[in-house]
Amino acid sequence: MKILFIGDIVGPGLDWLETHLPGIAAEHQPDFIVANAENMELSGTSSFVIAGMSRAGLARLWTLGVDAVTGGNHSWDGPEGMAVHEDNRVLRPLNYGTEAPGRGAGLIEKRGMTLGVVNLAGRDALRLVDDPLAALDAQLEAWGTAADGVLVDFHGASTEDKLTTAFAGAGRICAVVGTHTHVRTADAQVLPGGVAYVSDVGMTGPSGGILGYDPQKFVAAMRARHYSDAAWQFASGPVELGAVLITCESGRATAIQRL
Ligand SMILES: [Fe+2]
Ligand SMILES: [Fe+2]
Repeated sequence: MKILFIGDIVGPGLDWLETHLPGIAAEHQPDFIVANAENMELSGTSSFVIAGMSRAGLARLWTLGVDAVTGGNHSWDGPEGMAVHEDNRVLRPLNYGTEAPGRGAGLIEKRGMTLGVVNLAGRDALRLVDDPLAALDAQLEAWGTAADGVLVDFHGASTEDKLTTAFAGAGRICAVVGTHTHVRTADAQVLPGGVAYVSDVGMTGPSGGILGYDPQKFVAAMRARHYSDAAWQFASGPVELGAVLITCESGRATAIQRL
């Protein structure tokens, strides 16, 4: 089973994927494609609602062959932040409480295989999340043997939390991929327990700024201690790809490769 995971898509990253993902998929032949899309659209000027997803943006991802989308602290941002969760291919952090709109885990059936996808978040990304390990344990128990492999997108800044989840899942999951910081880390590896791991896949979005956005807004905010009302702009550099290709056999990872 080969899984292509694409890190936080930011604005122009979606246009870039429309041009390049068909070629990447043709070259690497992934069985499943999962993408974190929490920053796919720029949806407002407020510092609290700057990102999010829309149904139109998601439709573009489905057309590209993406099987499921994960999220994080921006899962509910934007004008369609609730509506997007009506699509069961859209996941949000599982450990964010049962009352929050959406679902945190899903099974994808394709080519005679079933991939389980779990989205978790750390408290540094979402202040009110519950224990990620308890949520993961309960989900894996509920699935039993339904999944041939399980991929976890852990959305947060703490590499310690992400690695802990990977070691805790050994023998039961095939990958923990980190998202949220938008910064590619150099630690892609298969851990001794057969779990493919990377602390952060990194964003798929415009370089030359901060998190894919124009840096001046952040500089002004650090000085003023708050974000100005000026509109958010994407950074203007070339799009960088944050993506990993994971190979799993019998539910255990055998390889992880950065693309
Ligand atoms: Fe993000
Ligand atoms: Fe995030």
